[in-house]
Amino acid sequence: MPAEFFSEISDAATIPNYYYFDGSTWKASGSGKSVPVVSPIDNAVVGTLPIVTHEEIDTVLQVAGDAQAAWEATPLFKRVGIIHLAADWIRHFQEYMGNLLIREIGKSSDEAKGEIVRTADLIDYFADEAQSIQGTTLDSDNFPGFEKGRIAMIERVAHGTVLAIAPFNYPVNLTASKIAPALLMGNSVVVKPPTQGGISATHLVRIFQKAGVPPGVITTLTGTGEVIGDYLVSHPKVSMVAFTGNSDTGLAIAGKAAMKPLLFECGGNNPVVVMPDADLAATAREIIKGAFAYSGQRCTGIKYVLTTPAIRDQLVAIVMKTLPEMVKAGDPRSPDTKLVGPVISEEAAKRIEEAIAVSVKNGATLVTGGKRDHAMIEPTVLTGVIPSMPVIAKETFGPVVSFVDVASFDEMASIINRSSYGLQASIFTKDEGTGLVFAKKLHVGTVQINGSPQRGPDHFPFLGVKNSGVGVQGVRYSLEAMSRIRPIVLNKPQ
Ligand code: G3P
Repeated sequence: MPAEFFSEISDAATIPNYYYFDGSTWKASGSGKSVPVVSPIDNAVVGTLPIVTHEEIDTVLQVAGDAQAAWEATPLFKRVGIIHLAADWIRHFQEYMGNLLIREIGKSSDEAKGEIVRTADLIDYFADEAQSIQGTTLDSDNFPGFEKGRIAMIERVAHGTVLAIAPFNYPVNLTASKIAPALLMGNSVVVKPPTQGGISATHLVRIFQKAGVPPGVITTLTGTGEVIGDYLVSHPKVSMVAFTGNSDTGLAIAGKAAMKPLLFECGGNNPVVVMPDADLAATAREIIKGAFAYSGQRCTGIKYVLTTPAIRDQLVAIVMKTLPEMVKAGDPRSPDTKLVGPVISEEAAKRIEEAIAVSVKNGATLVTGGKRDHAMIEPTVLTGVIPSMPVIAKETFGPVVSFVDVASFDEMASIINRSSYGLQASIFTKDEGTGLVFAKKLHVGTVQINGSPQRGPDHFPFLGVKNSGVGVQGVRYSLEAMSRIRPIVLNKPQ
């Protein structure tokens, strides 16, 4: 393994070179093209990532395919040991990788370090859980008309080569959440990281290589989605696509992936339903946390709150009173900053600013915020929003929460179920029975009762319906999704 593979990981000043294994040697991309990774904090260039060529993609996928069978044939306990070692290496580089995340994507120190720790714990949990994934056998005489003697031996096997496409907001955790189950189930993995966060994700892949994943079995292919995305997702040597990102991109990938198995987490608007009996102080704190954590750049971020007008006035007043205690916008490197830093780019901030302005022009009331300074968007609260307004018609990936007035529970359910999004929803009520009954009316992936939407804990099932996702993630669910069953039927007439 080239020594330089790891000098950068231990040296925070150096930006990694890029290598891929071509079946015999480690090679740097020869495209001569690269994309800069620009920090949202100060527009400084954190590093550059090469834009690989289609020929290099072909080589990587050929090598991945060639190496996959031997990897799947590696005894599971050995694969488990390598994955546990990767988790240990991540803990070893926790400080460096956390600092790199802060620079690449503008996460606060706590959020960045939290992502790294959560990732190591997640990988260990995957490795432990993989050892209990089993097949089964079935006998024919269970079914009417059949005698004994046809035995189905059903095992779980790898898809082949998994393409893992990760988002900028969790470039380490949501890359590992795809890599670990894919490798444990015997697949080769090709990682297409985001541009911002791509250096962190490249380091993560190197750590798996360092831990002992054989050359060629796991590779990063860097470049912008526009240039290599379509070629990758439609490539015949890609067996399965695991993607986290916005719904428009998810729909585009699904259109090109043909018959490949898909595992997608896409956008969400994650509404909050506030029942008349809710504890408004507790609800306000959950709304603030859910709407403003990581500057609202979470697929599970709260984007709108459904209440009757009477409740809305009380709740907004409590939110406005609590906001200064929980949120302080600023430089994510400052210990004084709470929840809100810059969004991922100035272009993203301009889109959010536009959505707020158009919504206000169409009748929404700006209670606080709304202004932009470069990539900073002020924490923003709007009332009088209706579902057709841009701030909630499309996922607004920023620190913006909207209050929508409704007259009845039925109207609440109707608004949620008419949305093209269906990731999560939260219900706040003191009467959990009412919450449970209402939860069953909502066409979303997961309903939280008296808690804000969230993916964790990571062994829970995590899914989106409609344009919010395909398939189910969560430790065991991801291990099953990264494999297929292979029945072999033994015909032995009695
Ligand atoms: O945006 C990614 C999505 O997975 C959110 O994760 O843990 O912040 O709810 P979490």
